[in-house]
This record gives sequence, C-alpha cells and structure tokens, in this order.
Amino acid sequence: MKHLTVLSTLVMLLGGLIPTWASGEQQQTTITPNAYARKAFAEEKFGIFLHWGIYSMYGQGEWYQHTGKLDREEYGKASWGFYPSRFDANEWVKAFKDAGAKYITLTSRHHDGFSMFDTHYSDFNIIEATPFKRDILGELAAACHKHGLKIHLYYSLMDWKRPDYPLGRTNIAWQDNKERTPVRTQQGDYDSYFTFMKNQITELLTRYGSIGAIWFDGEWDHHNDATPFDWRFKELYALIHKLQPGCLVGNNHHHEAIEGEDFQIFERDLPGENKAGLSAGQKVTENIPLEMCQTMNGMWGFKIADRNYKSVRECVRLIIEAAGKNANLLLNIGPQPDGELPALALDRLKGIGKWMSHYGETIYGTTAADLPKAEWGIALRKDKKIYLHILDNSTSQITLPALKETVKSVYLYDNQTPLKYKKEKNGMTIYLPALTDATDNIVSIETK
Ligand code: GLC
Repeated sequence: MKHLTVLSTLVMLLGGLIPTWASGEQQQTTITPNAYARKAFAEEKFGIFLHWGIYSMYGQGEWYQHTGKLDREEYGKASWGFYPSRFDANEWVKAFKDAGAKYITLTSRHHDGFSMFDTHYSDFNIIEATPFKRDILGELAAACHKHGLKIHLYYSLMDWKRPDYPLGRTNIAWQDNKERTPVRTQQGDYDSYFTFMKNQITELLTRYGSIGAIWFDGEWDHHNDATPFDWRFKELYALIHKLQPGCLVGNNHHHEAIEGEDFQIFERDLPGENKAGLSAGQKVTENIPLEMCQTMNGMWGFKIADRNYKSVRECVRLIIEAAGKNANLLLNIGPQPDGELPALALDRLKGIGKWMSHYGETIYGTTAADLPKAEWGIALRKDKKIYLHILDNSTSQITLPALKETVKSVYLYDNQTPLKYKKEKNGMTIYLPALTDATDNIVSIETK
C-alpha cells in the first residue's frame, strides 16, 4: 500500500502509465493513473472530512450566514478576526494518521465563498481578508504529503457572496430590516462564475502537489429550476483530469454518478439507504468507488452547542458498515476557530486509532463479501481471507451459504483460537464462544 502511494503520486504528477505484472506471468499490462487512483481510493476505507472556515467563529455550523439570515457583508466581517493561533497542521495530520485515516478532505471554499487558500481570483481569502495570513490549505497539504496521507479538496459549486453566481434555492441576500426579508434579485453571470471556478481549481491543482480528489457540493442548489441548470461539468471535470490525471472527481449531488465522475458520494447514509432523507432515489452506481460522509456530531462546521458526538463504538461500526457496502467512510470534524480540533473529536480519533491499529487489516483493502445480508453483522473479503465482523453479541452460531473456495481454517481473529465448524451440503455452520467485545468480534476464515 505504501509502495502504491509513492508510485501513484509519482505517476500522477508525471501523468504516465503504471506498469503492473500479473502474478506468475511475465506479461506486462498498463493501468492509467486514473484507474490506479480509483483502485487505491477504494482500498483506503477511512478518511477525515474537515469543515473549516470563518463560520467556525460563529460556532453555529457552516450554514450560519443562511440560517441566521445574515447580511453577506456583515457576515464576511468575521474574517478580520479570524486568527487560529493554535493551528498546527502537522499535529492535526498526525492525529488523523494515528486514527487510521488514509486521507483528509478539506473545505477549500464553502458556500459562504471564503477561500481557505491563497487565491488570485477572490480577495475574500485567508491571506488577504484575515490577520492570520497563512495559507491553511497549503500547510495542511504539505503536512499530508510529509506524513503520507492524501489530501482531497471540497469545493462548493455555489457561492453566497459573489454577484456572478446565478441565484439558486439558497443564496438569498437578507435585507437588513426587522423581518429579514429575503431579496432575490441577483441575476448572476454563469460565464463569469464558471471562469472563476476554473481559475481557482487550476490554482488548487497546480500549487499544492498531488491532490487526491476534488469533492464538489451544492449542485442541488438548482434542483428546483424549471429548466435543468447547465453547470458544464464535462468541461470542469476534463480540466481536473488534464491537470492531474490521478485526481479523482466526486460530486455530492445526491444522484447517480455522471460521466467524468470517478467516485460516488452518499451524504449521511450508507449506499442504498435513505434514513437522512437526502438520498431518495439515489441509485448506487456500479463499478466505481463509493464514499459515505457522516459527521462526528450533528453538524459539519464547528457548532459550539453540539457536544453530542458519536461514541468510538459508533464510529468504528460506521467504518465497518461502510466497508460492507464497498464504501469509504469520510468522517467529519468541525475544527474550532482557535485552530484546535474539539477535545471530543480528538478523544474519538484516539479510540478509533486504537481499534484500527489492531483490526485495520480486516478493513483496509477489503471488499464486501458476496454473501447474503446477515443479521449478525458484516462479511468482508481480502485475498484468501474472509472476515466476519460480528456486531450482534448474542450470536452463538453463524450459517453461511456454500463458499466458492475450500475452507482451510476458521478462527477468532483476536487470539487465533480455532473455531468448530461443520460443512454442510449447501454451506457451513460456525460455532462461536460467548462474544464479549461490545464493538465488534471478528472471525477469520482462511480459504485455499
Ligand atoms: C451538505 C451541506 C454542506 C456540507 C455537505 C457535506 O451539502 O450543505 O454544508 O458541506 O453537506 O456533505
């Protein structure tokens, strides 16, 4: 995996083809940097999402300009007080790496239009509009490259500040009167706005080394339009793939992936589910990597009052459940305005890291085992091994249908204790001891 990362980084930058050798054969085949990056991404299984911007200063989440019905100019003045004096990119990245994450996804520019990087194309940015004047994105990218994590960049398609963004469902200017009457007069100029986005994306892909993915969001701002809005995605995606062939494209548009997208995103739900109500009718796209994003608490950006963080057990189970759907989990943290990660988030990262350091082997590089959905938990497969993640502690035996391969041995992953099992005509039954781990109990099946 490490070799894969170094090699893929090199190839991504050089834009060449990667030779691969089929095992046992001398024949050389080639794989494009894009296909290589997709494969590597699908194996990573766990990333950290970071929603950070000037909104953290209000402590009300990243939508506060909108939910607070704030005048955009008044809202934007927060930038002049943004001075995250305790920010240390290396410390953050080390904490993510120790948690077992393989990549981070950072908000380069969110819906409020504030750029967390040095950009020529808007002065509403971390260098020109804050006293901090440090390129936060640049520092995180350098730390990721140094510590061997990939960096992905979230990029908002919509913008609540720029007058050339064509008004959608949400970018309302609020009149500064008692009722906060919405003003919906902005005409927009998509040619101008599209050029702006292309310019910024070019900066992102030419100044910060290898970028693992661009993660778009906000397409749904135009879902209510009478005629479909033409975002010109084809051109945008082609630009990304031209600048960095190994940079993957994902779009959180809540529907099936379209041409040019390298992975499919599911917001707050496992692929195929719709408990959060954002994925109605979102079919799973075949044959591309999947990613599910979820927050540690209830909000993406820092929300001071939301201390309701998921437990370590819940976070770990999310990783397992996502893997069971062939998806990565992108787990979100909203950093504080002082530049620190919330203490509760750090605590959860430590707990996840402890678990991943013991059991990561049963997660990274796996695919969902093609076994029928089971009540007891989730089956993952890697090479000649099948890992049964037993989430229901009351399980005393498991019946599996016939496996394609011959079973060599069955044992508890934790202490290698061999387990009794019986082969039947159409499958096998495994007999379990009393299960004690409240998070997960793993049984390994080795096949020939
Ligand atoms: C939604 C929210 C946005 C957040 C994103 C993360 O699209 O509008 O604030 O960044 O979800 O998945």
